[in-house]
Amino acid sequence: MNPILEVSKLNKSFGGVTVARDIDFVLDAGAMHCLIGPNGAGKSSFFRLLLGEHAPDSGAIRFSGDDITALRSFERIRKGISVKFQVPGIFKALSVRQNLEVAFQHHLHGASLGGTIRRVLEFTNLTGEAATHAGVLSHGQQQWLEIGMAVGVEPKLLLLDEPTAGMSPDETRKTGEMLHELNARGITILAVEHDMAFVQQIADSVTVLHMGAIFAKGSIDEITEHPGVQEIYLGAADE
Ligand SMILES: Nc1ncnc2c1ncn2[C@@H]1O[C@H](COP(=O)(O)OP(=O)(O)O)[C@@H](O)[C@H]1O
Ligand SMILES: [Mg+2]
Repeated sequence: MNPILEVSKLNKSFGGVTVARDIDFVLDAGAMHCLIGPNGAGKSSFFRLLLGEHAPDSGAIRFSGDDITALRSFERIRKGISVKFQVPGIFKALSVRQNLEVAFQHHLHGASLGGTIRRVLEFTNLTGEAATHAGVLSHGQQQWLEIGMAVGVEPKLLLLDEPTAGMSPDETRKTGEMLHELNARGITILAVEHDMAFVQQIADSVTVLHMGAIFAKGSIDEITEHPGVQEIYLGAADE
């Protein structure tokens, strides 16, 4: 196996709240993996640690064999990590094309910028909406625009935080197909997701996070049948 990401003994607390507790996590290059867990489990915090928006209290993160624990976010992005966060990151007053220009402007120029924008518009099914203000796109189209903004510069690892939240079943299925297409191009995918039908559609395997720690890891069947996993979700629903 050829790991693209190796997290070891990662710890992070904010005051009294521990968001990462001795996390050991290895992701193989080419994988499609899902991270699940109840609200507040630390999934988004884990992504912020991976991107370098939070500095860990202890532990290490290796990407493509290099220790990136001390690198700044932009240096990690330059190495090939890209992320689509939970909160929308599009500029609603700008057109779809302008959003892509803003996302790629520091990486691409001239003909390669134009070519990449054309390719991303096609991939996200937004060619006909290039001049449309992003704010008037459907919710699903806005999410796809953001995925397009995250993959234009061909990352090696794409992190997606709840990419299908608020989507219709049809939009959700279409998003799964888009992620398979990206994975076929060689992009490793790690997604936080709640919709188990979507997890089923995209993931080879699943990791469960609970109270900042890895609770379980396995195939989708192993995880859905795991009595402890069912309990932590029921516990969360009781709160
Ligand atoms: N910057 C922060 N400061 C203090 N507490 C935080 C911060 N970020 C997250 N938390 C807390 O850490 C816990 C995990 O949050 P989060 O990573 O967003 O969980 P998830 O994405 O799994 O729902 C929550 O209890 C949240 O309130
Ligand atoms: Mg979250």
